[in-house]
Amino acid sequence: MKETAFSTKILEWYAQNKRDLPWRKTTDPYKILVSELMLQQTQVDRVIPKYLAFLEKFPTAQALSKAPTSEVLKLWSGLGYNRRAINLQKAAQVIAANGWPADLDDLPGVGPYTAAAVTAFAFNKEAPVIDINIRRIYARYLHAGKNVEVDVIKQTPTGKACDWNNALMDFGSSICTANSPNCKECPLSKSCAAFKVGNFEYVKPKPQSKFEGSKRQVRGAILRALHAGPLSPVQLKAGLGNEKLNKKHVDALNEILAEMEEEGLVKTGKQIRLP
Ligand code: ADE
Repeated sequence: MKETAFSTKILEWYAQNKRDLPWRKTTDPYKILVSELMLQQTQVDRVIPKYLAFLEKFPTAQALSKAPTSEVLKLWSGLGYNRRAINLQKAAQVIAANGWPADLDDLPGVGPYTAAAVTAFAFNKEAPVIDINIRRIYARYLHAGKNVEVDVIKQTPTGKACDWNNALMDFGSSICTANSPNCKECPLSKSCAAFKVGNFEYVKPKPQSKFEGSKRQVRGAILRALHAGPLSPVQLKAGLGNEKLNKKHVDALNEILAEMEEEGLVKTGKQIRLP
């Protein structure tokens, strides 16, 4: 729709305060897809160097589609949640073979959020890009409760989906933050529903499950151990002994390996290896 006081103020704020992020310098949907998958559950600062290195090695969906999966996992290392890397390569294989699907969430590993983000950032089209920061701004400012989906598309200023969603993300990460919103610096506080009633308790992020002692930590250690080459089960277990891991999970190594094989992260047998 046309700009409103809400969108105009946020866009003005963004013009003065926008972050310089590498995925904002492109409209290539493949590069945007890589960035969005990396940004799920990993902080911006940690993603930036990984994003740049990944695209240097795999600049196109074609390049990624043909790579050994072990190389993809190596470049993903440090980002965690390695299934995202497997899905990204599968998506690249679909794109390389058939082109981009009409419904982006037909791609492996691409859900409604990621599909919307690629639609907005690569194609500058209106889409419900509702991450936790954006949801919180709408919930607070419009008092929209948790059902913000309708408002999000409606409020997008015509022709500015890309800037608008980037603006909301930056605004949510530096002004309208979850725990201590900076209402003093906020250009919208006078007309903000949450500010009026003094209630900012909307939409707290779920704390990420603890990494220390988790199965996720063991899975990460397994992949790192295999980056140098295949290992026998005994060698692998011995290597894991040097890390501070939860014994309960290391004892269940075979189960974890079976699970990881099912997800396409490792190949097991006499030797355990990356795919
Ligand atoms: N988090 C998820 N997507 C993002 C983006 N495009 N820019 C900054 N943070 C993000």
